[in-house]
Amino acid sequence: MQKIAVVGTGYVGLVTGTCLSDFGLETICVDIDETKIKRLKEGHIPIYEPGLEEMVTRNIQYRRLEFTTDIQSAVEQAEVIFIAVGTPAREDGSADLKYVLTVAEQIARSMNGYKVIVNKSTVPVGTGQKVKEVVQQVLDETGKSFEFDVVSNPEFLREGNALHDFTHPDKVVVGTESQRAKDIMKQVYRVLYLNETPFIFTNIETAEMIKYANNAFLAVKISFINEIANLCEKVGANVQQLAQAIGKDGRIGSKFLHAGPGYGGSCFPKDTLALAHIGQAYDSPMRLVETTIEVNERQKLNMVEKIETAYEGGLAGRKLAILGLTFKPKTDDMRDAPSLTIIRELEKRGVSFRVYDPAGMEEGRWRLEGVRGIEFCTDEYSAMEGCDGVVIVTEWHQFRNLDLKRVQELLVSPNFFDLRNIYDKAEMANQGFAYYGVGV
Ligand code: UDX
Repeated sequence: MQKIAVVGTGYVGLVTGTCLSDFGLETICVDIDETKIKRLKEGHIPIYEPGLEEMVTRNIQYRRLEFTTDIQSAVEQAEVIFIAVGTPAREDGSADLKYVLTVAEQIARSMNGYKVIVNKSTVPVGTGQKVKEVVQQVLDETGKSFEFDVVSNPEFLREGNALHDFTHPDKVVVGTESQRAKDIMKQVYRVLYLNETPFIFTNIETAEMIKYANNAFLAVKISFINEIANLCEKVGANVQQLAQAIGKDGRIGSKFLHAGPGYGGSCFPKDTLALAHIGQAYDSPMRLVETTIEVNERQKLNMVEKIETAYEGGLAGRKLAILGLTFKPKTDDMRDAPSLTIIRELEKRGVSFRVYDPAGMEEGRWRLEGVRGIEFCTDEYSAMEGCDGVVIVTEWHQFRNLDLKRVQELLVSPNFFDLRNIYDKAEMANQGFAYYGVGV
């Protein structure tokens, strides 16, 4: 099969390009950022993702993976071109398509034969058709008459597990009505197809909706369990046991029922907002999704209030250790991380901070720039030194087995806010902590 081109070397693009090359396909990754491409050529990857650097280096060595800023040459060489550029949220929550449509135009200008143009970016319903129109318009303008197909092929990988998720997906969704494009996509994902991964072929619009519905449903589950957790706390019930029990019902399923400080990251917040926006635009309001967003915003504030009510006389002048800044473990990503809201809200109440995250310190420094009295520490124990309490915001493995005696010695008062429920309430009380979980 001919080469593959992937335009955009962000999270999804880089993982897609690298994994496809690892499947044995010759892949060219394209980006307009020259410094990024130069560094990628040397095997330096701009994001934190376990195993990715090794996979990039290996495939560069095998000469199956190339990086370039030259989109024209990449399109000329490839039969299948993935668009994996950003779709940032606009002020009003709708997705901004300018990058996707610019790339579509550039592809059209560089076409030298039949191409399959695959949308991997999460885009509003109707974008596939817009891409078609843009490409056709450029072809008409330039007097070329090449055939092409547009496919929507959403990605469901999770940060921190991206390589595993790409190579072992629950499903591959291919939205196109063209048989030729379907056959080519089966070839692209041949390794998965042969492994009996379910392939779901739909039209473009259905594939675009699947991505939003998938993410929104998971977000609904999280907001649901967070509300249940808040009620559990009030009535003396335990949300962990409750989640275990309801999760055993096969119709509900056990995943994404972990109560916490609210969801964050690059997908759920942006995609739920975009879906709510699409619903409004089509006069078909997504009321559950809208409420899910509200509940999630509220949950971050609930965490702040939980901390506030633990201190008689308020929070002014208190110093807290914050363990974990990233929106989840195994990533350095802090996009929409609950830690950001929690820290800023605590700051308003007069708190100062000692913070530590195993991978998020660099991003933390600029995202939290200007926060009064914030100190970035070298490890979890130094962060706790002289603090009035510790707040676990992200459930990094190394925070799960803290030396509790040492923690007691380091803290001025033994307040332990476990926003991820990674410790046992009764045991913590036995150890002399004032323990606060979420819904336990
Ligand atoms: C998510 C989707 O899982 C993935 O399919 C999609 O392609 C991109 O968005 P990701 O954002 O990397 O992936 O992380 P995920 O592990 O899904 O967690 C998202 C957020 O939900 C995190 O902030 C996490 O802490 C939170 N979460 C998750 C909970 O609060 N409770 C849970 O039970 C599960």
